[in-house]
Amino acid sequence: MPGRTTVLVTGGAGFIGSHTCVELLGHGHDVVVVDDYSNSSPGALERVAKIAGRPPAGVYEVSLHDRDGLSRVFEEHTVDAVVHFAAKKAVGESVELPVAYYDTNVGGTVALLRVMQEHGVGRLVFSSSCSIYGDAAKVPLTEADPADPTNPYATSKWLCEQVLADTCRYLPGLSVLSLRYFNPVGAHPSGLLGEVPRGTPGNVMPYLAQVAAGRLERLRVFGGDYPTADGTGVRDYVHVMDIAEGHRVALEHLDDEPGMRVFNLGTGSGTSVLELVAAFQRACGTPIPYEITGRRPGDVPALVADPGRVARAWGWSARRDLAAMCEDAWRFQELNPCGYPD
Ligand code: WQD
Repeated sequence: MPGRTTVLVTGGAGFIGSHTCVELLGHGHDVVVVDDYSNSSPGALERVAKIAGRPPAGVYEVSLHDRDGLSRVFEEHTVDAVVHFAAKKAVGESVELPVAYYDTNVGGTVALLRVMQEHGVGRLVFSSSCSIYGDAAKVPLTEADPADPTNPYATSKWLCEQVLADTCRYLPGLSVLSLRYFNPVGAHPSGLLGEVPRGTPGNVMPYLAQVAAGRLERLRVFGGDYPTADGTGVRDYVHVMDIAEGHRVALEHLDDEPGMRVFNLGTGSGTSVLELVAAFQRACGTPIPYEITGRRPGDVPALVADPGRVARAWGWSARRDLAAMCEDAWRFQELNPCGYPD
């Protein structure tokens, strides 16, 4: 989809969604944001407008389950494509609240698909996750490796992929790109936009940033007995701006062929929790207190991407390194100690 288009971004006030809005606006697209602000803030969209130099074409505080409210968005804008981020995304939380995760993530995706179909919109970029690979027998992982989700969050993403792939079989006009992110972290280099989780962060990078800022006492390292080099969990951390660029590139390839295609978005490099702590210490210039505790239910030892398919298909690859991820995350934390102004 070359040229200027109108892209509906669900969860557009969230961490990855807001950074993707900046990227799309910066490349001449118009964006329309739908968000229920359950894990985001309208303040993020003010920062999007400031960075991009222009605001979204429309912002709607709507739940995906609000069929009339969502339909109104499609009635008020000619939507060329949808980028669907809106979801719950914390592995640990999903183990405690499985039904909420299936209702929001799977139910919300089906509700969106229904309204898209009712309005003749057949282009979708879906926010999937590396977590569907589960306790992988090997890394790095290609898209051909089997799904083996180990927690309700991961299972919800895998179920969404099944629904989307099967729907494509019956709706020939539907084109879906499912992007399996590895671990998006960091912030926009301006320091104006970043990750602002509600309450205590579930993910390691925002938690680290708050420990460095003195808002939290110490990092609990979940498990020191994994079969990894230093015993702590290994992940493929990828800069959120690389992920945002990956979505913009995906939109340009939606019309390559009908049906659903799947792509890993990662760097291909694994980093342990202790290595991440060391990298963040270098970025913030202060020691990070931590203690090694028991494993977190639902966690797996290692998840690292083989990013070869997307590089071959689209020429996209992650460009920013771990130091930039930590420096940008720390800059955002320092400039926004309490997140976005209400
Ligand atoms: C990373 C590592 C933890 C917190 C995330 C997103 C998910 C998906 C995949 C996009 C693990 C350890 C964590 C803490 C810790 N992304 N950890 N102490 O679980 O890999 O999943 O990336 O779709 O949406 O949630 O990320 O940051 O929670 O954990 O030791 O306080 O850090 O055990 O090894 P995860 P995470």
